[in-house]
Amino acid sequence: MGIFIKNDFSFVVGSSVCESFFILLSARLTGTITTKISGKDCPDSKNETAFISTGINCSLGIQNNSINNDHIKNFSKLCQNETMSQPTNDLYGNVVWSSIQYLFVVGILQAFCVLIQYYAFDTSGRRQTNRIRNNLFRAMLQCNVTYFDENQTGRLNSKLFENIEIVGKGIGLDLAQILRSLGKLASSICVAFYGSWQIALIMTYTIPLVIVTGKLFSKAITKETFNEFNAYSKAGHIAQEVFSSVRTVLSFNGAKFAHQQYTQKLEGCQRSSIKKGFVYGLFRGWMYFNLYLTYAVGFLCGLLLMNAKKNLVSLVDILVVVLAFARGIAAFRLVGIFIQSSAEVCGAATPAWDFLDNVEAGKSIETGIFEDNNKEKKTSINGNIRFDKVTFTYPTRPDVCVLQNMSLLARAGETTAIVGASGSGKSTLISLLLRFYESTSGQIVINGQSLSNYSVAELRQNIGVVNQEPTLFDTTIYENIRFGKKDASKIEIEEAARLANAHDFIMRLPEKYETVVGERGAQLSGGEKQRIVLARALVKQPQLLLFDEVTSALDRKNEKIVQEALDQACKDRTTIVIAHRLRTIQNANQIYVLDNGTLIEQGTHETLMVIDGGKYQAMFRAQQTKETVYDNDDEMVNKLPEKQLPTTNIDEHPETIFADAKLESLNYVESSVTSQRSIIWRLISMNKLQWIPILIGGLACTCIGAVEPTFAVALSFIINESDNNDFSSSHIDYVRDCLSV
Ligand SMILES: Nc1ncnc2c1ncn2[C@@H]1O[C@H](COP(=O)(O)OP(=O)(O)O)[C@@H](O)[C@H]1O
Ligand SMILES: [Mg+2]
Repeated sequence: MGIFIKNDFSFVVGSSVCESFFILLSARLTGTITTKISGKDCPDSKNETAFISTGINCSLGIQNNSINNDHIKNFSKLCQNETMSQPTNDLYGNVVWSSIQYLFVVGILQAFCVLIQYYAFDTSGRRQTNRIRNNLFRAMLQCNVTYFDENQTGRLNSKLFENIEIVGKGIGLDLAQILRSLGKLASSICVAFYGSWQIALIMTYTIPLVIVTGKLFSKAITKETFNEFNAYSKAGHIAQEVFSSVRTVLSFNGAKFAHQQYTQKLEGCQRSSIKKGFVYGLFRGWMYFNLYLTYAVGFLCGLLLMNAKKNLVSLVDILVVVLAFARGIAAFRLVGIFIQSSAEVCGAATPAWDFLDNVEAGKSIETGIFEDNNKEKKTSINGNIRFDKVTFTYPTRPDVCVLQNMSLLARAGETTAIVGASGSGKSTLISLLLRFYESTSGQIVINGQSLSNYSVAELRQNIGVVNQEPTLFDTTIYENIRFGKKDASKIEIEEAARLANAHDFIMRLPEKYETVVGERGAQLSGGEKQRIVLARALVKQPQLLLFDEVTSALDRKNEKIVQEALDQACKDRTTIVIAHRLRTIQNANQIYVLDNGTLIEQGTHETLMVIDGGKYQAMFRAQQTKETVYDNDDEMVNKLPEKQLPTTNIDEHPETIFADAKLESLNYVESSVTSQRSIIWRLISMNKLQWIPILIGGLACTCIGAVEPTFAVALSFIINESDNNDFSSSHIDYVRDCLSV
């Protein structure tokens, strides 16, 4: 990387040197051509030796130096001929031709330098971007779960991908642009001083002016960019939240509300963008003004100096200085683009950097999670699990005590059930066991050792978890199960699937284990998803199984199938089952009843059922009554022909789904060709509503376009008229004497 950066800079220097030569050559060429055009005859000749020996520059173009010494001598000699001769024209042609040749070579060199420079910067920018993304991804995974409780996933996403893309551009191509512009600026100033230090000295007033104002503008643009980013990230978060739970939004008729919220946030983005655009336009306008001011001041001062003292400056000197400063300012104007880009880079990178710093500074529980999982298997956590007076408060809600003095025991090789009303703290117990959080007081002991003595990685390697919400990744069933054990063989995977009661239905799928399950397993039914998730938990042969309301979202039929799989899986394993439906845990060795974060009852099903007025007994009876009603409902559902089941199981009607997909893609190909034109028209017609700003912008563009040719006319006028001007006539006469042909 270091070598790359070094090379990048050498090409920046190379391109700046080419730039300087370009200014000198073009000024020389302009001067020479002007000489030729203005030289109509050759009056009294001057003393050639005097001219050369004084080392004075010939005013209209050719400088006396080691390269063109011969040319000047020849020109001077030719002046004495007083005739327009062929050799004179040849000589003029030689000067012009050599300049053009040099220009050509400089052009090629410049093109090469710019090409390499941009390529190198782009490459290094991309590499840096990937490194930052990698670090962020890693750091995010190392964060405590609390971080994800506090931050929305939308914001995390934009930090990871969208923002870093902007950073990459800023440290790649835009950096190349700024360095090139700064190189141009520096070389232009050098060339200007080389041309005429007197005029250049006067013109230096522009340097602090553009730098100070540039900095002020940059500050304003950075501020607005930051606001814009914040606003976009909020809008993005709303969009992500709505689309990830679109069914809920639609079922609550919440589309209008969601749309209003999104529009509101977008308006915030728009305000910041408009402000930023205005400040940026102001900056560009100011730089244009400075550019033309440079020409005006340069020519004025140059011609005044030319008049004040003969031979002090020539037209070429003026041209060199003015062109150099103009190019310098034009370069700085491009710096403006980078100022905006660097402001965006800062705006985009700030949250990412803050995050990385916080992760480094903060105490993360998630240490060692990138270590090799397989070696963690060596430690055994097979033993009793004891919660010893555990009290816990979520860091995000410090005023609510979720668990109070909780003490319970899950014996090794047995099934322990935890029941209780929703919000009583059951899932929190599992989160503490998995060390997503640390308990506020008390301790959890596994196999005689405090939980904190185990590394997070070794602990989780030995625990299999299945939650109420089955989480599948958008890949094949094989890969989804393999996520439990990265080096699992196909045989191991299929064995786990058999244990989880999933093998048979997987084999009925068209692609069997190679079936891609869709985003979050969208192409499978709830029961099927749960069985794959169970297989994933079982494939790593965990010593401890945690089931958190695995069947509570399933209908009776699916519940039965999944429950059979769960019962099979817990045989001879330490298992903690959290269940909402009490009939599923009747056979548990020990049942704990929680209420509002405290333990209120414990025992087996039989002992708990005999506690008159007990919570468990009441809950069980209430559920029994409900379930008779539901069972009837379930039976009705079970009697429906398969096709009418409200499920997205592709096993049941795979052709329909795939046929639809094919049809859609065909339609898309056809329509994409025909509708491309109409899309352009639609985009244009969308702008109808914005006709006022577009009209004003268009008029401003026309004015800008008109300024450049007007300026060219003015410049040619200055050059042409400089020899007719009274104040310089004597000087021009002298020049004609020595150079006219
Ligand atoms: N990540 C969290 N941050 C803050 N509070 C939480 C979090 N998760 C759960 N809670 C709160 O903790 C309490 C217990 O939640 P939980 O353990 O999920 O209950 P259960 O699983 O018994 O339904 C609830 O009041 C819930 O609102
Ligand atoms: Mg829960």
